[in-house]
Amino acid sequence: MSSDLRRFRIGVLASGNGSNFQAILEAVRSDRVQGAEVAVVISSRSGAGVLRRAEAAQIPREVVAVEDFPGASEHCSRLAGAFRSYEVDLVCLAGYFRRLEPCFLKAFPDRVLNIHPALLPRFGGEGMYGRRVHEAVLASGEKESGATVHFVDEEYDHGETVLERRVPVLSGDTPETLARRVLEVEHQIYPEAIQKVLRRLREQGRAVG
Ligand code: GRF
Repeated sequence: MSSDLRRFRIGVLASGNGSNFQAILEAVRSDRVQGAEVAVVISSRSGAGVLRRAEAAQIPREVVAVEDFPGASEHCSRLAGAFRSYEVDLVCLAGYFRRLEPCFLKAFPDRVLNIHPALLPRFGGEGMYGRRVHEAVLASGEKESGATVHFVDEEYDHGETVLERRVPVLSGDTPETLARRVLEVEHQIYPEAIQKVLRRLREQGRAVG
């Protein structure tokens, strides 16, 4: 298909509930992310909620679980091959509970985004995920937290920031109440960040790989 007719193909890599996948899908389907489609969801866990959401939305889905492969390089080749087979232009990590192997980043250079539930570079890095992030923010006495969408490189939570948004930390917040407030802005900024990256790639004539 000629590149001006082909939609920009987003692949989602996730392990959990998949609310960010849902937000991306709704934004694509309502044209808040323009000229795009969600091509596939790949989960690292067979029982993940994200797979049920993908099924309900009739999005192709696969499980690529690390324990099904003899080693990291076989796992990585399969993961990259799966996204390639769906002709994915951008991979969006949305609650992926593993570190991506370098071979994957070589297969999709500057084409992998992640969302983190804090204002990076603070409260990021190895071991900083899920509830732990919000516990650390509350323990630090910060008055603000937020969410960050960034490009993925070989260091945890490290690549170029595409978009971040702040939320207040309120007195009486628990990790759960703060997580809910942060998740609401995650659902806003992930689609906005994808649209921003897509616009940049189109300006460079590189949107469709
Ligand atoms: C989000 O908080 C995201 O920032 C983090 O993992 C969580 C995924 O939530 N990386 P969901 O599965 O999208 O609901």
